[in-house]
Amino acid sequence: MSYWNKYPNIQKEMDKVEEILADTVKSRRKIVQDASMDLIQAGGKRIRPALTIISAQFGQYESDKVTTLAAALELFHTATLIHDDIIDNAKTRRGIETAQSKYGKDIAVYTGDYLFSKAFLLVSRIDGGQKVVHLSRFIKAICEGEIEQHAAKYNSTGSIVTYLKRIKYKTALLFALCCQVGAEAAECSPKTIRSLRRYGMSMGTAFQLKDDLLDLTGDEKITGKPVGSDIVEGVYTMPLLYTLRNNSFRTKTLEVLNKTSLSFTDIAELVVLIKEAGGIEYTRDFEKKYYHKARQSLKQLRDHPNVAILDDLIREMEIRVK
Ligand code: IPE
Ligand code: IPE
Ligand code: MG
Ligand code: MG
Repeated sequence: MSYWNKYPNIQKEMDKVEEILADTVKSRRKIVQDASMDLIQAGGKRIRPALTIISAQFGQYESDKVTTLAAALELFHTATLIHDDIIDNAKTRRGIETAQSKYGKDIAVYTGDYLFSKAFLLVSRIDGGQKVVHLSRFIKAICEGEIEQHAAKYNSTGSIVTYLKRIKYKTALLFALCCQVGAEAAECSPKTIRSLRRYGMSMGTAFQLKDDLLDLTGDEKITGKPVGSDIVEGVYTMPLLYTLRNNSFRTKTLEVLNKTSLSFTDIAELVVLIKEAGGIEYTRDFEKKYYHKARQSLKQLRDHPNVAILDDLIREMEIRVK
């Protein structure tokens, strides 16, 4: 069931987004089309396109324009997922085999690139290219965030501040962009655009914090990814970085972490160490802080039914398990 079902005005638009997505990934190269469709049809929460639609409804809403933009943003996201799964060596995504696992790395890279170019083509349809410039800047920042993360792999002395900066780049900016682009397309006032963008930034930061927590505390059957994948791939997130900074836990944690290969038991041991050191609690507090910031941004918006929807989304994100 789609999360957006309970809001008919949003669901109706999301249905259009699905149509555009299916239509856009059609290709003469069947393998690229199949690889794209597999992932699109496997579901996904569709938070990003929904943010664009919800934000646009604060202004003069033009359905065709906004759903096209929303679909393009979901395609950007899908492309980054395919590439991210190659980099992270992920076997599953949205409960199905990843593109590189099913079709091999080469096809997966091409599929990601194909989706990026399709996303740009969709956006260029809207206003003769002005938005493309805007979007390119954001995509560039996301790439920089991912490169930053790559450079920090296996770094056991990484700081929390650097981690937060990185997740802002790799995840929060796209959330912020989705809100901003929607509000701008509907010609909202600068104040509304600013508040929605800030809401997106805070939500995106909290979202990645939760994602990083779920990697350690989630149920594999629900998340669709094995517990501890980040650690195995050398991506040290806030709960682990916090534990490594605690002198009573650092040595023991490093002992496990520095093994040549990490077994299931090693991961379980690391999760226990992180819990005991308070790394989960610490990260949850940060996550809560960002939901609070998102709520503060909503207070800056004028009275509108979608404020309640965005507020509901915060609650929904707080309790999400995948
Ligand atoms: C996954 O995003 C990538 C992150 C930024 C953590 P989502 O959790 O929104 O992925 P889908 O689209 O719902 O599968
Ligand atoms: C999000 O990071 C990926 C992008 C922003 C491209 P993750 O690597 O944590 O996402 P998952 O956990 O694989 O979904
Ligand atoms: Mg990943
Ligand atoms: Mg993750």
